[in-house]
Amino acid sequence: MAKQEGVKTGKFQKGKQQWADHLTEKAKHDNYPARSVYKLMEIQKKYGIMKKGNNVLDLGCAPGSWLIYAAQTIRMPQPPGVVAQTAGMAQTVGVDQTIGITQSIGHCAAKKPSCKGVAVGIDLQKVTVTLPPNATALQGDILDLNRDGCAPDDETLHATDTLASNARKEYDVVLSDMAPATTGRKDIDAARSFELCQAALKIACELLASGGNFVCKIFQGPDFKQFEQSVKANFRQHAIFKPESCRKASKEIYIIGRGKI
Ligand SMILES: C[S@@+](CC[C@H](N)C(=O)[O-])C[C@H]1O[C@@H](n2cnc3c(N)ncnc32)[C@H](O)[C@@H]1O
Repeated sequence: MAKQEGVKTGKFQKGKQQWADHLTEKAKHDNYPARSVYKLMEIQKKYGIMKKGNNVLDLGCAPGSWLIYAAQTIRMPQPPGVVAQTAGMAQTVGVDQTIGITQSIGHCAAKKPSCKGVAVGIDLQKVTVTLPPNATALQGDILDLNRDGCAPDDETLHATDTLASNARKEYDVVLSDMAPATTGRKDIDAARSFELCQAALKIACELLASGGNFVCKIFQGPDFKQFEQSVKANFRQHAIFKPESCRKASKEIYIIGRGKI
């Protein structure tokens, strides 16, 4: 597993670009596809949100750094001679080739209690890196799971049914590092980030086991306080955290909810 040494802003004051380049190089060296992994490492170090044997859902998982690190963190030690337990497939599964994202989420987590230490990721983009054997990546739009105001079609009804019967309360941790494609207009970007956060929280509330943990990236804007209140209402403890590995100028920040009520 990668070490955290050197992930300190104080040591790299020579400019933002140099700092970003340093973390990108470090991520490459540590075998992660993106430097964002160091943000999750800092969160894990401070809050201990994932434990061995937990099942983790990673929303906005591409290119795959958080998914790999989460899978490494939760993976159960395998007794000698036992074939590693997998979440399904250690590769990307396009939703159109499968039974729908929601059902896939349910399918992957529904193997409890036999299925422990599994990480499932979802993203608009295909994850192309090789994942650990206890991780699976699906391709799809999180907002499609949360659309209100339209009549559900057969697949959605079926998927919702699967959610209710199989996936409900089967995850111990829900992570969201989702970010909208930025426009340069801070108000628009913050509003889109808020929409993703609301979708992530809804999914967390539906799928997290009691006592489960939630980590969500949000671009700070006018809706930030409202989202913080929603997290506060659903978790025993909540915290706001800006990892040192985030760019100082960036509006992104993480809300951490611990102990799903
Ligand atoms: C900062 S990247 C995540 C990096 C990832 N945590 C890692 O460590 O590799 C944000 C991701 O959110 C995804 N995303 C944005 N909107 C989404 C949506 N509606 N559904 C699924 N993924 C989304 C983007 O495609 C992008 O890959």
